[in-house]
Amino acid sequence: MTPNGFAIEVKNGVTYIDGILIVNKTYPLPSTYIPANSQVPVTTANCANCLDKEAYAAYTKMKNDAASQGMGLWIASGYRSYSYQSALYGGYVNSSGKLAADTYSARPGHSEHQSGFAFDLNTVSESFANTKEGKWVNENCHKYGFIIRYPKGKDNETGYIYEPWHLRFVGVDLATKLYNGGNWITMETYFGVTSTYQN
Ligand code: DAL
Ligand code: ZN
Repeated sequence: MTPNGFAIEVKNGVTYIDGILIVNKTYPLPSTYIPANSQVPVTTANCANCLDKEAYAAYTKMKNDAASQGMGLWIASGYRSYSYQSALYGGYVNSSGKLAADTYSARPGHSEHQSGFAFDLNTVSESFANTKEGKWVNENCHKYGFIIRYPKGKDNETGYIYEPWHLRFVGVDLATKLYNGGNWITMETYFGVTSTYQN
């Protein structure tokens, strides 16, 4: 049990809390993990469509609803393999140093992008939050089962700076609880778990 009373179990090296897959700085995925129910077979290391089927269907619905209101949503980055994340993170360490890189890029095995349940929308920049798409996504994504995984000012909980573009599929029930009327609760605080590297 987590301190907040949720069942925590590890299956094939993957941690589930209350049945929801969790990946953060504390809980890694095995290097060999690939999305179990991917929309299309995982054949490349960086694949926007290789998301979990249910997550992809929810994304398609959200994208279509946004389009009907004149907004364009697209996936800038979807599934990323362990080795792809390793190269990405390594590049950031080289350019800005490990301390800074750890605030915005996950070490290999610690990225939600490897899970197939997360993706980046449109512009990977904080300015996305001020676009009409960004505002709409923030207010409506929970209705499709998505959360803003790294909300503003919750660095100490999630381990990462604000990422208005990074969505995580958790299903409508949990997403609605975490949306919390617009005052996002993090998965870490809700479940009562940490996001800190062990070394
Ligand atoms: N930018 C997020 C934390 C990742 O690298 O998965
Ligand atoms: Zn992301």
